[in-house]
Amino acid sequence: MLQIIPIFAANTTRIMAKILIKNIKKLYQIEETPRPFVAGADMDKVNFIEDAYLAIEDDEIVDFGPMEELAGITDWNDLTIADAEGRIVIPAFCDSHTHLVYAASREEEFVDRIRGLSYEEIALKGGGILNSARRLANMPEEELVASALYRLDEVMQQGTGAIEIKSGYGLSLDAELKMLRVIKQLKELRNIPIKATFLGAHAFPKDYKENHKGYLDLLINEMLPKVAEEGLAEYVDAFLERNYFSKEETEQLIVAAEKYGLKPKIHVNQFSIQNGIPMAVEHNAVSVDHLEVIDPKDIEALKGSSTMPTMLPSCSFFINIPFGPARELIDAGLPLALASDYNPGTTPTGNMKLVMSLACIKQRLTPYEALNATTINGARAMELEKTNGSIAVGKKASIIISKPMHSLDFMPYAFGSDTIDSVIVNGEIVRSGKAFI
Ligand code: NIG
Ligand code: FE
Repeated sequence: MLQIIPIFAANTTRIMAKILIKNIKKLYQIEETPRPFVAGADMDKVNFIEDAYLAIEDDEIVDFGPMEELAGITDWNDLTIADAEGRIVIPAFCDSHTHLVYAASREEEFVDRIRGLSYEEIALKGGGILNSARRLANMPEEELVASALYRLDEVMQQGTGAIEIKSGYGLSLDAELKMLRVIKQLKELRNIPIKATFLGAHAFPKDYKENHKGYLDLLINEMLPKVAEEGLAEYVDAFLERNYFSKEETEQLIVAAEKYGLKPKIHVNQFSIQNGIPMAVEHNAVSVDHLEVIDPKDIEALKGSSTMPTMLPSCSFFINIPFGPARELIDAGLPLALASDYNPGTTPTGNMKLVMSLACIKQRLTPYEALNATTINGARAMELEKTNGSIAVGKKASIIISKPMHSLDFMPYAFGSDTIDSVIVNGEIVRSGKAFI
């Protein structure tokens, strides 16, 4: 029998935040021995307990089990109790790919697409990433912090409990550093794990359109050393795509970044296949992201590697491009992570519950596969699998309590409904719903 009494023992040095969630209809994604990620046929398996409790102390999960094993509570001091009768609990989402810091929305491009232009055509006429870079260049850091904070708070309320955020709308030394400093401020302002990625290689700025070598020099010899010196990023990214960065240019950047300890997470195979996936895998990329188009060679390269293939179905939905062949990857025995790609151009939302729905509806993932892809595999895609992505003792207390429902299946099924009641991130109640009344 699991005992929660000793775990709730009073701490004399400071007041402990303790939360007990009782009567959980189904507690999903529980692990006795945490796994680093889930792949292939295992993605369609999720362990759960019916009629369960979950105990949190400070920012950690300290206990969980069936209600009948919940021992008496002796210490009621500072204990918050939630009654999850009729509700399910899942780990908070791990969103491993976002561009949450930006200066302005781009709904004019949305209308251009409705009228018939493609994403690539809009970019070629000066829209797209360069449009965002122009608008960000003169915006003060505090304004960027304020708008990014608003978005961060919104996605936390929507159930995100760990997030990666990229630069990439700067494209100059000053503006890239400004973006990364904004991300650093977000880390200080909110109690949520944030991983920062340097994406100076998001597009060639206008002045370097014909001088790729010049921009690569700037990236490698001026931006990277500064980013590393200030400790502003954990990862390096590039948009490896026709009209953007070639495989060779991307590899040059990856090799340079290795010296500073920045591991690659790469935008690749969104519109075309440039053999970027085998190259990124060779350099132990933490993830390769987008993958709307895939070659059998890519699947072979990913097998047995430490690189997490990551798909972004809300990007496909929004700019109306093919959805990545997720089934092919999973059926080949590979793992898969799903992320939002929250950005003003291709995905103006960070709603991970919608990402689950789109993966189920458009990519034929089962709800269990979608849950594994948005939790433990997302955590792995930002090297947070030891602390996030599942319900395990010692992991971060980052969870979602649903509105009343029978099972997880209802979550992606009710694709337009807000099915979330409450959210806890790192032990803090960031959204307090009916379960807490
Ligand atoms: O992941 N594809 C490249 N980068 C972003 C879009 C950037 C933009 O259009 O602002 C993406 O979809
Ligand atoms: Fe992206």
